[in-house]
Amino acid sequence: MMKTFTNIKDMQDKCKAWKAEGRRIGLVPTMGYLHAGHLSLVRKARQECDIVIISIFVNPIQFGQGEDFEEYPRDIKRDLELLEAEQADAVFAPSSRDMYPEGYSTFVEVEGSITKKLCGASRPGHFKGVTTVVSKLFLICQPDKAYFGQKDAQQVTVIEKMVRELNFPVNIVRCPIIREADGLALSSRNVNLNSEQRQQAAVLNQALKAAAREIEAGQRDVETVKQGMRKLISAQPQATIDYIEINRAEDLGEVKNLSGEKIIMALAVKFGNTRLIDNLIVEV
Ligand code: PAF
Repeated sequence: MMKTFTNIKDMQDKCKAWKAEGRRIGLVPTMGYLHAGHLSLVRKARQECDIVIISIFVNPIQFGQGEDFEEYPRDIKRDLELLEAEQADAVFAPSSRDMYPEGYSTFVEVEGSITKKLCGASRPGHFKGVTTVVSKLFLICQPDKAYFGQKDAQQVTVIEKMVRELNFPVNIVRCPIIREADGLALSSRNVNLNSEQRQQAAVLNQALKAAAREIEAGQRDVETVKQGMRKLISAQPQATIDYIEINRAEDLGEVKNLSGEKIIMALAVKFGNTRLIDNLIVEV
């Protein structure tokens, strides 16, 4: 029987007891409004761990001023039904007041260009909010393994660095992007697209795939590849490009020439008020 915890201490005590019994805990951190991408993480955790915990918490401190914290979709009842069906053991759904009580002032930040580029450039403070909440979730749930989706590639890379550098005793498991039939990467935010925007959003994956084909065909100039993606995406009237970047896949370092490296092509594009991200890794 799946149990829902809203109290931090109760969750932490339960996790301590599970650990004392030698159970391996898998944690899937989410902001809820679950889709097949989240469920693929839950299934992987179910295969690999004795206890599967899903956290559901729309983390206010990772949203900037004017971002979509209020509009972020929420449906806890539906989420709980989906997770019950996946045979999860526990859901951790704390309140903002408990996570960040009055006077809260402790943060975990990965410094340097890794959190300043890509999404970090247009969302200052976003990754500080993510690494702070993920640290709190790790300390509360004490997972052996934690599962994150490759769609948020920069997020996973930042979290891996944090875990390495702060010696968190947890293995980070990166899981593949799950896509709709037309290639759109699953995201809780997709529900906020109107039908025209939804149709046009398929261009994101198409542009990434076209770029991969161009590289396969021998194109080695980063700017030319980015320009090709820019052209395809801006042909969609509802699309406003935030960024299109090509970086080293391993650490998001600079890539000048496409040669002998695993690269990640990443983009963020707004359709109306909805900002979508996607990426594709290519072995050059
Ligand atoms: O990817 C997300 O849903 C969030 O950024 C996370 C990791 C749950 C932290 O709030």
